[in-house]
Amino acid sequence: MITDDIVIKTEGLTKIFQKGKKREVIALDSVDIEISRGEVFGLIGTNGAGKTTLIRVLVGLLTPTEGKAYVLGKDVTEDIDFIRQRVGLLPQEAGIYDRLTARENLIYYGGLYGIPEEDLNKRADTLLEIVGLKDKEDYQVKGFSGGMKRKVLVARALVIEPEILFLDEPTTAIDTLGARIVRNLLKKLSSEQKRTVILTTHDLNEVKELCDRVGILNEGKLIAVGKPSELEEKFRAANLEEVFTGLVTGEGVYGGAEP
Ligand SMILES: Nc1ncnc2c1ncn2[C@@H]1O[C@H](COP(=O)(O)OP(=O)(O)OP(=O)(O)O)[C@@H](O)[C@H]1O
Ligand SMILES: [Mg+2]
Repeated sequence: MITDDIVIKTEGLTKIFQKGKKREVIALDSVDIEISRGEVFGLIGTNGAGKTTLIRVLVGLLTPTEGKAYVLGKDVTEDIDFIRQRVGLLPQEAGIYDRLTARENLIYYGGLYGIPEEDLNKRADTLLEIVGLKDKEDYQVKGFSGGMKRKVLVARALVIEPEILFLDEPTTAIDTLGARIVRNLLKKLSSEQKRTVILTTHDLNEVKELCDRVGILNEGKLIAVGKPSELEEKFRAANLEEVFTGLVTGEGVYGGAEP
């Protein structure tokens, strides 16, 4: 693997949240990960496993407690402006401008990145068409359904044409057809434009279909990484669900292979 092609790298990345005087939560526990340019990398794990925390650290919204995180070769604690200019984020929650229309959400967000309005208008046309919101583009987002808002956020993350896309549950709340469109769009971005996509999901079929590699987080620890098919083979499991369930429950995978 060529070092230049590694766009995300963490070393012993740890994030601890202090809850009150004595209690603390180790949301990320010594995570070592490397992600290459053009990969679609899936992060899976039960609720509270640390997926959102990892994304938030990588885009500079949280500072690591210990360890290192590099994005595009830059340390997230030192060069976050450089990084922010080049990555797109679809947050798990909120982030949408309710009073703006679907189209204005894209144009305003892109404007923050200094992208000329002419380019933004073209990109907005294409993206709104792709996610199926072209006929609703001039409606205020506050009247949108949950899935429609999610589609606006997907388009918004893409409008800046980022080198790296962080998508925290991009297809949650999106209907079957919409989810397929989003998956196809992400696949195309990765294969045709070599964009890197890091996404979280609770849909293991989605991982199988979309992700080149997957990382399983459990209580802040990265307990397995690999191609979905490799993990199934390694653990002699019938499917990814079996791998996942066996590992996170600690019951082991039915096939019985050692990790
Ligand atoms: N800002 C915060 N302050 C305190 N604790 C936090 C904060 N953010 C996350 N946590 C804790 O860190 C742990 C990891 O949370 P995180 O949101 O990363 O999980 P997740 O894997 O994204 O879960 P989900 O699948 O529910 O989205 C949880 O125990 C959570 O309560
Ligand atoms: Mg989350």
